[in-house]
Amino acid sequence: MKYGIFSDVHGNYTALRAVLDFYQNNGVDNFVCCGDIVGYGPQPLECAETLRGLKKLVAVMGNHDAALVGKMDLKWFNSNAAWAIEFAREQLTPQALDFISRLPEKAETSEFMTVHGSPRKPLTEYLLSEVQFMDNAGKWAVSPCFIGHSHMPLYFREREEGLPETDFIKPLEKIFVDGRLMFNPGSVGQPRDGDTRAACGIYDSEKKYFELHRVFYDIGAVQKMMAGLNMPAILSERLSFGF
Ligand SMILES: [Fe+2]
Ligand SMILES: [Fe+2]
Repeated sequence: MKYGIFSDVHGNYTALRAVLDFYQNNGVDNFVCCGDIVGYGPQPLECAETLRGLKKLVAVMGNHDAALVGKMDLKWFNSNAAWAIEFAREQLTPQALDFISRLPEKAETSEFMTVHGSPRKPLTEYLLSEVQFMDNAGKWAVSPCFIGHSHMPLYFREREEGLPETDFIKPLEKIFVDGRLMFNPGSVGQPRDGDTRAACGIYDSEKKYFELHRVFYDIGAVQKMMAGLNMPAILSERLSFGF
């Protein structure tokens, strides 16, 4: 089975559409979303409704989603992020809010598991270092584990001794799942690794590999929409730089 693995859509529907079109062109119709559907971007409703409509989706709650539905305090967010969460709250229909509020913090199948931040702190930990990965060791059972939150496409591979193997994942790079691995597919809606294209992954559970892809989308159109909504300028400008 091929799964489309993606995270941190953040209300960027133009980017999400491009990623879903990419998946359709590659015969992928099973999906895993590692959280942060809303926040930062101009179309949170369209993103929530599109994901709600996917028949085969495993999704977890991100910290921005949690704040949207009152499961996390807005004081943990900077003013621009908080602005976008309140904007999303005004946009979402009761059905879309209900969909987000029901998302679990962890999801597990026989083939993989997913969580937004980390297994030990699903909503808050930015899992970026080998030591953090090792500290999470006893908290997850099924490999691979898909995470989001940091917006960085990277992987960790457990070793029997010493520090785990970790690296950023380049576009089209294939990483085989031959043990206990975690993957972050990067961010669809607000990449922060200097590549402005939407990031997403494909996991082939039969051939046991994860592959990263980058997909072009119309950044200018999103920025125009954001300007029309008087969204904080920094949220729009950062899309041009991928940070
Ligand atoms: Fe995020
Ligand atoms: Fe997050």
